[in-house]
Amino acid sequence: MRHFLTLKDFTKEEILEIIETGLSIKKNLKAKIYNQELKNQTLAMIFEKSSTRTRVSFEAGMFQLGGHALFLSNRDIHLGRGEPIKDTARVISSMCDMVMIRTFEHSMIEEFAHYSKVPVINGLTDSYHPVQLLADYMTLVEHGMEKNIVAAYVGDGNNMTHSWVMLAAKLGFELRVATPKGYEPDGNILKEALVIAKESGAVIKLMNDPKEALSGATVVITDTWVSMGQEEEKGERLKVFKGFMVDDAMMSLTAENAKFLHCLPAYRGYEVSESVFEKHSEIIFDEAENRLHAQKGLMVWLDRKRG
Ligand code: CP
Ligand code: NVA
Repeated sequence: MRHFLTLKDFTKEEILEIIETGLSIKKNLKAKIYNQELKNQTLAMIFEKSSTRTRVSFEAGMFQLGGHALFLSNRDIHLGRGEPIKDTARVISSMCDMVMIRTFEHSMIEEFAHYSKVPVINGLTDSYHPVQLLADYMTLVEHGMEKNIVAAYVGDGNNMTHSWVMLAAKLGFELRVATPKGYEPDGNILKEALVIAKESGAVIKLMNDPKEALSGATVVITDTWVSMGQEEEKGERLKVFKGFMVDDAMMSLTAENAKFLHCLPAYRGYEVSESVFEKHSEIIFDEAENRLHAQKGLMVWLDRKRG
């Protein structure tokens, strides 16, 4: 049995296999051929943070696969009132077939997975957002952008950055990360990624100048400057990140036909200009839709591995 907590635990071949599974289910869905592999299965979805895409894509995805999804907000279950994680994990995993969790500390999901009898999926922690990366890479494949990627991540060194760092390390492409000083990705995650990168041939560079990162990039990525849980830092962050907005002048430095990705929600006028967002809205909303297809691929893949 496998959990899906970070891309670190997966080989390049496994990551590509999950995405291929999702693409094939997507192709069939568009032809009205429905994969019902998870018939009679239940996915428990624990949310300790807000969500639009993650909730809708997992719930719709599980329904389309023949199963059922349970939305469990921590305001409604005893976890939010202090019932131990390990007890919650043992109870929920005795009744459900898979669990998806969106929470704060990554250690929470690790502890849950340790006590869970069924696969646990990370639907975002403070450290990682790996299901988003499945959708992002799927979108690059569909747009014919997966060869010779030179990716530039501009903004905060957050859960999205860590996930991009891990994807680059695993798949072996170039990733430049431009953040303000003091907002770099986590040093330990970076260290782990650099060890993996040595084997895959990935080139991962940190810098503080977004222009340097964008020069000749084929894929540009950004994310909010104020992640969930950082609301109190908002004022300070908006000052620090000035100069990191991806606008038309920034995009003019990239390779011709470079793509722009955003996991959403997007804050126009902050991490991205309205103009860049709207010019790239087609791929951005393909990326959002692909959350559904990539996660269906993931759930089917995890179910097949359970043997
Ligand atoms: N990108 C993403 O995970 O969106 P939600 O926060 O709406 O789930
Ligand atoms: N970095 C953002 C991603 C939202 C999908 C956050 O954690 O809030």
